Amino acid sequence: MSAAVQIHDLSFVPFIDQAQIQTRIEALAKEIDTQFTGKDPLFLAVLNGAFLFAADLLRELKCQPEISFVKVSSYQGTQSTGRVDELIGLQTGLKDRHVIVLEDILDTGVTMNKIFTLLESEQPASISICTLLLKPEAYKGKHQPEFVGFEIPDKFVVGYGLDYKEYGRELKSIYQLIN
Ligand code: IMP
Ligand code: MG
Repeated sequence: MSAAVQIHDLSFVPFIDQAQIQTRIEALAKEIDTQFTGKDPLFLAVLNGAFLFAADLLRELKCQPEISFVKVSSYQGTQSTGRVDELIGLQTGLKDRHVIVLEDILDTGVTMNKIFTLLESEQPASISICTLLLKPEAYKGKHQPEFVGFEIPDKFVVGYGLDYKEYGRELKSIYQLIN
């Protein structure tokens, strides 16, 4: 097992190693295949955090997945009512498609609520959530994820796509904040 890592001002210790991640992803892929083979599923991976998870999961799937990458953006609208959310990068039409959202982590669920609302307006046949990590103690999202890699405590983690102030995404394992 690798040693602790320092990112900016914080130290992190090894938490979920590369082999554990790959083993779990293989199992998740089987679950997804069972449910979606023959349904022409469209995977939407949420950037930046889900890029490695998406790459590894996709290569395990047998259900002939189509994949697209999206980013959630919040901008100041023209109305005084505050900020407006949009999903950048959505090119494929979602109407009547079975959409599976790929996320790195579900924490409070605020981001997933926004994504879900934006996707619903495109009238897909179904929307499912697949997340590598879930913090059950923190999650207050309106929709429960159908596919979860690991349930983890409500502590900050980095690595395998997840960042702390934009660094640490390249780490092959997942590390947990020391406190
Ligand atoms: P939310 O609180 O569920 O809306 O999570 C929003 C976003 O915060 C996630 O998509 C991640 O990008 C980021 N995030 C939440 N928890 C962690 C963590 O432990 N490590 C790194 N990023 C996190
Ligand atoms: Mg994210």
